[in-house]
Amino acid sequence: MYADKKITERNIELALGKTWFYPYVLPDGRKLPSSHDGRVDAIHTTRARMLDAYLAQAFAPPRTGLRAIDLACHQGYYSIQLANAGFGHVQAFDVRNEHIDDAKLLGQIYGLDNLHAQRADIFDLTAAASGDLVLMFGLLYHLENPIGALRIARALTRKACVLETQVVPHMSGMVDWGSYEYVRPLKGCLGIIDEIDETHAPEASVTGICLAPSTEGLIWLLHAVGFKHVRVLPVPDDGYEQLRHGKRVMVAAEV
Ligand SMILES: C[S@@+](CC[C@H](N)C(=O)[O-])C[C@H]1O[C@@H](n2cnc3c(N)ncnc32)[C@H](O)[C@@H]1O
Repeated sequence: MYADKKITERNIELALGKTWFYPYVLPDGRKLPSSHDGRVDAIHTTRARMLDAYLAQAFAPPRTGLRAIDLACHQGYYSIQLANAGFGHVQAFDVRNEHIDDAKLLGQIYGLDNLHAQRADIFDLTAAASGDLVLMFGLLYHLENPIGALRIARALTRKACVLETQVVPHMSGMVDWGSYEYVRPLKGCLGIIDEIDETHAPEASVTGICLAPSTEGLIWLLHAVGFKHVRVLPVPDDGYEQLRHGKRVMVAAEV
């Protein structure tokens, strides 16, 4: 017990000595230093509220028998939210080792035995890692193969996947498909975004080539990879501007 207390004190010192992408508050009320002076806190707190609202409706407690997966967990903010919400096993994955170390550090400080973090590229995951709930926040638009990522999300999802992403403007209309007499409706768009010079950044793509979907395209794709029910989740009136204005969306995709 004494040894555990010593480890926690040491971990708190470590946590206070680094900067954090999320608005973390220690059990004793002290805030951890922000990596951006709190400028992007509103996006995190809005998403947390939207996720809470969805959990209340789709995953009523008790949740101890449920397993949740957080794809691209970064420093574990939403994994910690799920662990605190009572999911029996929360499995967090991220491709960057430093994020996994940070998520584990906080899991120890908060005493969350149900939080497990492991380094993994999501493209290496198989259905063996499946969960009742799968989160995929802030990842899709950093990938060059977002459709492959949606297929993996579907393979991992036993009940629901909650996905949050930046979206690009939609375009619709008919497309000549070989001839003006043979046409197809455009289902959505994927916008190409260049992060090639930013792959060192902790939040960025690891390949630098990014394809971001339009909302309509994302909904179509989620159905196409096998989700039965797909809906855009409501944003609080005082929520983060990008979510309020439909420049980012949070979507619940259920099997
Ligand atoms: C913008 S951050 C989003 C983090 C967190 N999910 C959130 O919404 O706050 C993108 C995260 O995706 C991770 N990432 C990028 N490509 C990945 C991949 N192929 N597999 C797993 N994680 C990846 C990055 O390391 C980073 O932590």
